[in-house]
Amino acid sequence: MELFKNHQKRRRERLQRLYERYKRIHEQLREHGGDILNSENFRKTRGHIQHGTMTVHNHCMDVARYSLLLNKKLRIGCNKHDLIRGALLHDYFLYDWHDKAYLSQRKRLHGFHHPMTALQNAEKEYDLSDIQREIIKKHMWPLSVVPPTCREAWVVTAADKYCSLLETVGVHRGHGAKAS
Ligand SMILES: [Fe+2]
Ligand SMILES: [Fe+2]
Repeated sequence: MELFKNHQKRRRERLQRLYERYKRIHEQLREHGGDILNSENFRKTRGHIQHGTMTVHNHCMDVARYSLLLNKKLRIGCNKHDLIRGALLHDYFLYDWHDKAYLSQRKRLHGFHHPMTALQNAEKEYDLSDIQREIIKKHMWPLSVVPPTCREAWVVTAADKYCSLLETVGVHRGHGAKAS
């Protein structure tokens, strides 16, 4: 009985720690990217699927969270403001790349084109720094050919690949309708 109680206690403490960490990360996202999170266009990405059932909105939130974790765990020393804003806007292409009504050619080449589309969209609405531009432009490396030139872009590129893999194999699930 005692053993079971201890197990329950440790489990509660672990969940509490995870919740606190999630809350701290979310506070940082709000602090540095509150205007993006509240914008109409960013909210619209809840209607677009990224991989599996994961929406573009939740994918970008996850990439921002994992970028912060990676930066902290590996003590990379990124500029947090640029890291968060670049991660939130890295897939700001604003269309559903599974939509058959959408230019069919574009879908095939989505992997190559969407960083520049995201950059153009983000430039229209936000005052981007050079680091944020680099994050958005290079996050699909090696498809971008030229590798990232700053640590923030490397971190987001790694977090994006990790999240995309987990979404594709169904470990990270979202609330959207599965794309056909
Ligand atoms: Fe992307
Ligand atoms: Fe992405």
